[in-house]
Amino acid sequence: MRQKVVLITGANGEMGHGLIQYLAKHTDCNVVALDVVPLDKSLRSLVSTYIVGDVLDQMLLGRLVVEHEIATIYHLASILSTKAEYNPETAHRINVEGTLNLLRLAVEQSQWQGTAVKFIYPSSIAAYGIPTLKDKAEAGEVVEEDWNYPTTMYGCNKLYCEHLGRYYNSHYRQLAADHEGKTTVDFRAIRFPGLISAETVPTGGTSDYGPEMLHAAAKGEAYNCFVRPDTIIPFMVMPDAIKALVKLEEVPKNRLSKYVYNITSYSISAQEIFDIVKKSFSNADIHFAVDPARQNIVDTWPERLDDSAARQDWDWSPDFDCERSFGEYLIPAIKQRYE
Ligand code: SER
Repeated sequence: MRQKVVLITGANGEMGHGLIQYLAKHTDCNVVALDVVPLDKSLRSLVSTYIVGDVLDQMLLGRLVVEHEIATIYHLASILSTKAEYNPETAHRINVEGTLNLLRLAVEQSQWQGTAVKFIYPSSIAAYGIPTLKDKAEAGEVVEEDWNYPTTMYGCNKLYCEHLGRYYNSHYRQLAADHEGKTTVDFRAIRFPGLISAETVPTGGTSDYGPEMLHAAAKGEAYNCFVRPDTIIPFMVMPDAIKALVKLEEVPKNRLSKYVYNITSYSISAQEIFDIVKKSFSNADIHFAVDPARQNIVDTWPERLDDSAARQDWDWSPDFDCERSFGEYLIPAIKQRYE
């Protein structure tokens, strides 16, 4: 008998850490963790198997399904927005071809099993692209369908992969004689705001100034925030992000009216983050030194998101507002971490 498992790609990343810990604590599912680097030692006892490998390695993915019956895939592997700009074509391969490989694996598995494999996909505010600061200020709470003109390779990749997911869910091989009634993948995506974790720092994102200010101050390191103080985007702490992923995975399909959902918690300026960090770490050596290119990217991302569809369809609501995020989670946990 093959083992029924949950597959997590990008398992060693920020979200992977949070998700593996959550699943180990709250469920009895068997996790197969895949990442290009070896899984952190602290996570190894929490998974059934960890595999060092690439989502572009089709042989590896093929071998995975020989041994495992995959019920759910959390496809977290991705090259984030800043890093992707240094080599957009490589980012495209990993972000898009990697997703395509996993979707194909999921659809094949669904057909073997006669039941749809759930494919949980983290998309991003980077899928939006608002052309001017005036438009950004006037846009208010942005809904999923508006301002879908991303300016980064990462954002283009995320937006396109949302469409790929919809295609694999509903239109895959639509001209095939045996298409009618065939089981396909059950695709569900969330557009996340900037994420902040007390445990890990992201690598290569453009919302990283938030977590970086905080972690640098706690470590006693100097840091230059690369966006203007008045820059506002939505942020969310990792426990809420993980809760959302799991909640969306669990909800019955017939409650879902969309493939892709915004979620949000609170919108905050870089100045406000700076003020909280200064107050919490009196020796913080943080300054503003704007990087115009990275600033341009953040300027295209919405100030606020409308997450009413997620609230309506799967009872989404964050546990952490701004005050709780910093006061009860980030500051105490980060202080403890670097003590
Ligand atoms: N946090 C991501 C980034 O900055 C956006 O999804 O790239």
